[in-house]
Amino acid sequence: MDCKVLPSQVTVIEVGLRDGLQIIDQKVTTEDKLRLLMSLIETGLSDLEVTSFVHPKGVPQLSDAEELLLAAPRDTGVNYWALVPNEKGVERAVKCQLNGISVALSVSESHNLANMRMSTEESIARIPRMVSLAWEAGLNVRAGIGTSFGCPFEGNVPPDRVIEIISRFVDLGVDNILLADTTGMADPIKVTKLLQKVRFAFPEITLAVHFHNTRGAGMANVLAALLSGITIFDSSIGGLGGCPFAPNAAGNVCTEDMVNMFHQMGINTGINIDKLITSAHLAQEILGFELPGQVMKAGPTDQLHPLPHREVPG
Ligand code: COA
Ligand code: ZN
Repeated sequence: MDCKVLPSQVTVIEVGLRDGLQIIDQKVTTEDKLRLLMSLIETGLSDLEVTSFVHPKGVPQLSDAEELLLAAPRDTGVNYWALVPNEKGVERAVKCQLNGISVALSVSESHNLANMRMSTEESIARIPRMVSLAWEAGLNVRAGIGTSFGCPFEGNVPPDRVIEIISRFVDLGVDNILLADTTGMADPIKVTKLLQKVRFAFPEITLAVHFHNTRGAGMANVLAALLSGITIFDSSIGGLGGCPFAPNAAGNVCTEDMVNMFHQMGINTGINIDKLITSAHLAQEILGFELPGQVMKAGPTDQLHPLPHREVPG
């Protein structure tokens, strides 16, 4: 590994309140979401994707988007983001004092149909109007491109199609692009090849990645992205997450595991790992089941233990 290419600083975008909760069966109250939000703000995270403005019947867990955002603390220095699928979502978002929206669509037709109930081209056709509505209201826009590394229904996704979709956003002036591995189909070689191709085609864009750990390759993919020059990573507290409209969906890369690894590698995140672990335990307490995160169980790498006392026989 060529350590000289590693960045000294990265940005982590915490998506647990959105991607993390959208797949949970039980009801999480707005009050509990606010408790988790406050705890995440304490950690030093700079960016939180806190909800979605999607159909409330499709994702009932996030149907309190307005309520949550209107109650969320302000002037904390944290940027609030939300996912939106269409114009109606943007109209709702602009009333909620957000910093930015993630405009979501999938490269794969089948996943876009299952997730958004429209073809990828229909989603793309809506984007100019969505982007102008958001910009008029002073919101930042990032383009979240799902199934960029593979589709659970179609298998491989052609990298040229990913490039074509990015170009549609870039033509509009949206240069903040997020490549999402919605159902954990990426591997480090696929990640390296796609990122090299995208970087070559669009050297000026801000590029971020969003990996799911569905098949255990999440952190390997994070490392591959780091070595490819990526410095912006989505992740979820405790490793929560998953798309409710994809079979066998599983959690995002776990925030505290990823941050612990970055810190051990000498990469600064501006995030307090102990506070992050406290947030992961709070998420676990609120949800009432064991979360997949590892560092919340083992402790951060630099937390040492006293030598066990051994009785001397005789
Ligand atoms: N928020 C709230 N209501 C919405 C909405 C939104 N963003 N978009 C559409 N609606 C409402 C419409 O107003 C309409 O209401 P009406 O029947 O009272 O007139 C109704 O939903 C149907 O509108 P339509 O445009 O036909 O939407 P749809 O039923 O085809 O659903 C999406 C399209 C995109 C809104 C829906 O598939 C969705 O929310 N998908 C997101 C899934 C998701 O979050 N996946 C995980 C993250 S990637
Ligand atoms: Zn996701």
